[in-house]
Amino acid sequence: MSSMTGMALQKRLVVCAVAVSALLLVYILCVNLEGPLSLPVMPLSFSQVLRSDSQNSGEPLDRQINSDQRTHPPPASTRTVPHEHTRATHTPTLKTQTSTAAGHKPAENNVLDVSKSSSRSDAVDKAKTRTSTKGPTMQPRRPTQAPGPTEPPFIGDTYMSDNVPPQTDCPDGIRSRVAKTDFGGRFLKNIPVLQWANHTTREQHQRLSKYPGAHGWGGIDYKTLVETLSVLNSSANWRMLDDWKNRSNGSECIRCAVVGNGGILKDSKKGKEIDGHDYVFRTNGAIIKGFEQDVGSRTTHYTFSTNTLMNSMRSYAGAGYKGPPLSEETRYIFLPDHDRDYLLMKAAATHTPVERGNERGKDPSKYFGKDVSARKLKMYHPDFIRYLRNRFLRSKALKTKYKDIYRPSTGATMLLAALHTCDQVSAYGFMTPDYKNYSDHYYDRSYHSVGFFINHDLRMEMTLWQQLHQAGLIQLYMHK
Ligand SMILES: *[C@@H]1O[C@H](CO)[C@@H](O)[C@H](O)[C@H]1NC(C)=O
Ligand SMILES: *[C@@H]1O[C@H](CO)[C@@H](O)[C@H](O)[C@H]1NC(C)=O
Ligand SMILES: *[C@@H]1O[C@H](CO)[C@@H](O)[C@H](O)[C@H]1NC(C)=O
Ligand SMILES: *[C@@H]1O[C@H](CO)[C@@H](O)[C@H](O)[C@H]1NC(C)=O
Ligand SMILES: *[C@@H]1O[C@H](CO)[C@@H](O)[C@H](O)[C@H]1NC(C)=O
Repeated sequence: MSSMTGMALQKRLVVCAVAVSALLLVYILCVNLEGPLSLPVMPLSFSQVLRSDSQNSGEPLDRQINSDQRTHPPPASTRTVPHEHTRATHTPTLKTQTSTAAGHKPAENNVLDVSKSSSRSDAVDKAKTRTSTKGPTMQPRRPTQAPGPTEPPFIGDTYMSDNVPPQTDCPDGIRSRVAKTDFGGRFLKNIPVLQWANHTTREQHQRLSKYPGAHGWGGIDYKTLVETLSVLNSSANWRMLDDWKNRSNGSECIRCAVVGNGGILKDSKKGKEIDGHDYVFRTNGAIIKGFEQDVGSRTTHYTFSTNTLMNSMRSYAGAGYKGPPLSEETRYIFLPDHDRDYLLMKAAATHTPVERGNERGKDPSKYFGKDVSARKLKMYHPDFIRYLRNRFLRSKALKTKYKDIYRPSTGATMLLAALHTCDQVSAYGFMTPDYKNYSDHYYDRSYHSVGFFINHDLRMEMTLWQQLHQAGLIQLYMHK
């Protein structure tokens, strides 16, 4: 009897094993069939895909990348320029969207509760007035869907939803217009743009540790995170435009100027116009002194990473760059891609020397002035950077060995952050299709062609600016 049941069990096991193998085989076949479909559509060469530059942001790289991995574009005359307009429409390859016309509409079900949260935010948009002082309500979400075979786990197209109430009820602000454009499908109104003390939980740490660099908290231990982010504990830290109430002066809409460092600004005489906005965003080697007529003089938001700041201070000292702009109204927004950003931020907030790492012992007031305080510091949320990369700047670099160092440029992050927080955005000094007519930066003493690096995709960014301009979501200065 017992041997009979034993044999039956064995038979059942064999049947099971066969069934599992069959399923596996079917799965492997499916994966292989999907493979070719997800191959790049545009016939771009490797170097083109990896080219990116420092123009908009004045963003020098680590020396190592500079010397070892800088790609050398062919002479201008032999360069083939990709079809800018078709290109980006083919870039994001999310798995369930192959039938959508636009191609860049992310599949809604790849994002947790997006439909729910966006309809909720619509209700919130209408209900709130600009005098709202309510804090954000967080809805951390857990992935409910495993990434498909065309979506490697490092992409992580699922984000926390952070319901920061809008500060205005601007009737034709970006938030209300975006849904009617091609960007409606990928724009998340409740993406956390900034991270702050309340985001540091064990659960979030576990979720974000999967993503390295600017895209997560990979490599940053929980203790460091809590010790550093805990200083960002006020509404000025989670609100990008934290002093709007003091400035609004009856105006219904928030107008932002976002100023890149591109050579197109030289002799533009745009200074007055730029300074006339409610907020003025700048980044990296933004040299103001001597260039006020062309670029303005105010800075309300200065975006940088510790690495790009140190590089700017080294590379552009000769052109007159001495460090971040200092003024009563200036806020400093870290783009954290390393624990050195967290450490420098904490040192600045607490007026203490940096405790360890590359900047060990440095006095943060050297960069941010004596009056810096936690109120003036902000830090981009890694979900925001990953979301920008995945949904707005999904470069083909992500299919190469450079996928870990590729990210939106600092300038692109700044412009897209303004797009997610302001009602109207004017962009100046960003790369345009005729970029060869201008020097890399507005402060270059002689013509320097735009530098391309592998960790950004400035061509793709340039295309995105054109598309956002055509969609009426930004006003891009094009010198015409
Ligand atoms: C942030 O956390 C603190 C302490 O846990 C809590 O008192 C506060 O209400 C939270 N603020 C928001 C806006 O969630
Ligand atoms: C914020 O942190 C500072 C110390 O960094 C502390 O003195 C202050 O009480 C905290 N504020 C809140 C609202 O928790
Ligand atoms: C707003 O203005 C008041 C009075 O001038 C000042 O005390 C307060 O700090 C300002 N708030 C912000 C967020 O700048
Ligand atoms: C506020 O608005 C009034 C009228 O619109 C204007 O005269 C005044 O100059 C404004 N004040 C500031 C500080 O912008
Ligand atoms: C840019 O340069 C090209 C020739 O190099 C010229 O044809 C074109 O008109 C220039 N565009 C602008 C805006 O100056």
